[in-house]
Amino acid sequence: MTALEIRNKFLNYFKAHGHSIIPSAPLIPENDPSVLFTTAGMHPLVPYLLGEKHPNGTKLADYQKCLRTVDIDEVGDNRHLTFFEMLGNWSLGDYFKEQSIKYSMEFLTKELNIPIEKLSVTCFKGDADAPRDEETAKIWKENGMPEERIYYFGKDDNWWIAGETGPCGPDTEIFYDTGKEPCGDKCDPSCGCGKYVEIWNNVFMEYYKNPDGTYSKLKQKNVDTGLGLERINMLLQGKETPFDTEIFAPIMERLQELATNDNIASRRIVAEHLRSSMMIIADGGKPSNIDRGYILRRLIRRMIRHLNKLGIDLNNLEELITLNVQILGEMYHELINNKDNIIKTILEEKDKFIKTLENGEKELLKELNKLKEKGVDTLSAEAVFKLYETYGFPQEVTKEIAEENGFKIDLTGFDKLFKEHQEKSRMGSEQKFKGGLAEQNEQTIAYHTATHLLHKALQIVLGEHATQKGSNITTERLRFDFAHPQKVTKEELEQVEKIVNDQIQRDLVVTCEEMSYDEAKASGAIGLFENKYGDRVKVYTIGDFSKEICGGPHVKHTGELGRFKIKKEEASSAGVRRIKAVLEK
Ligand code: SER
Repeated sequence: MTALEIRNKFLNYFKAHGHSIIPSAPLIPENDPSVLFTTAGMHPLVPYLLGEKHPNGTKLADYQKCLRTVDIDEVGDNRHLTFFEMLGNWSLGDYFKEQSIKYSMEFLTKELNIPIEKLSVTCFKGDADAPRDEETAKIWKENGMPEERIYYFGKDDNWWIAGETGPCGPDTEIFYDTGKEPCGDKCDPSCGCGKYVEIWNNVFMEYYKNPDGTYSKLKQKNVDTGLGLERINMLLQGKETPFDTEIFAPIMERLQELATNDNIASRRIVAEHLRSSMMIIADGGKPSNIDRGYILRRLIRRMIRHLNKLGIDLNNLEELITLNVQILGEMYHELINNKDNIIKTILEEKDKFIKTLENGEKELLKELNKLKEKGVDTLSAEAVFKLYETYGFPQEVTKEIAEENGFKIDLTGFDKLFKEHQEKSRMGSEQKFKGGLAEQNEQTIAYHTATHLLHKALQIVLGEHATQKGSNITTERLRFDFAHPQKVTKEELEQVEKIVNDQIQRDLVVTCEEMSYDEAKASGAIGLFENKYGDRVKVYTIGDFSKEICGGPHVKHTGELGRFKIKKEEASSAGVRRIKAVLEK
């Protein structure tokens, strides 16, 4: 079986059991500044886990593209990946523990034909916040799981929450026994020795963690499950690493053919980072020095460094990208549709990086000359780190050049600084979660409705070509990108502002209807990002003014919005303008 076949089996199985299949949301979350990338299947569904009605019903299944960047520096070993695909089935206040476990058990043993002897499970052992999940253990037993393969663990292992606050709950994890020797008497699914590999996580999401650390019950009991595709694929094929499966093997082999200085860790890094970069670019990412763009930049640059290390000429990059489109295009059509842009973006970044390396080398030689004059024979950790941080100049290149010129370098000190820096940036990206996922509060909801008004007003003032190209909302402001070839004049901006404020004054009622995507289009609703929506969609209507396909939520009356004020208009990219605006109370 291939990964694509497993994905199809999964979706077909859940479809046959009454689930609507919804498309994967993009890797780059819209309207959600609290996360850099979608890191789990539940992100795009947070509003519905909290009780918002989903247009496709209460039972959903999907595959979700995910990217986790905390472990970027671990890639190269036999298991870490940044991009991965998560298969998930969802109950939004519909079925709960019993049915969820039945589905998982049936899918694994009947559809994927995994012998039950290979499986063991873990349940939440209970604490002051929530009781021991004996109910789940009992259901497992009823479904054929022997008692000795049911384990109980605490919050660290068997409780799922994305970030610090938000929907959460106890989970039950399903492990696959690889058949390896136990690492000792205490070997169990929590030990991490590699004998047991977690394949599926079923979260029973009935709690909400509040900012003060307490837990409340959610309006509804949900099920959120995640089955890692690359992992299950690897296990079913009896492979040791995901790099030995059809997802990576052809590119790994080609790299080996091209390499004049082969090493497997570098090949894995190139193969993995190439796939992730391509997926991010296909979903609209661009390299830059901050946030998402910075992660993309790091992925591409690290890949290039390892191509250099392998002795592979960078002129082969385009061929490697094309090969990856061939390997992955059937799974991710967006790679085929965005192939030219992917090639252009990666090659441009490569050229920039080459420049960076040239500049870094100049700086380094200057520094070495200074040291020579002073009679110092070692390049300090700070100097190596500065080259790394300011110029993106890799320490191994620094070492090579320094040594060629007869200098020693303080790599131990550099490693220390590097670790400190890594810890800081890790904390930084975790910080991104702190606001809670897809945080919904009065302010972000108000900005969401204001965005609809702005969108329509821009089309009235500038013309119908002024369609949405992107949107980002924080509690402080809205940011809206739209197609328009030139700067919006001061007069046009004033007109837009006035139209929006007029609609706020009119205190229009905001209503929501569910319909099929085609009906929505026929009704004249503005609909964007077609592939993001499932068969059924929600259409938000604001009085007689605007009609737009959207997941919501929105305010009930525009009068709740306050005064709309445009703060800035600027270019976002070629042919795309950006407006930042606020609501003043
Ligand atoms: N949210 C859970 C996870 O990411 C299950 O989907 O593991």
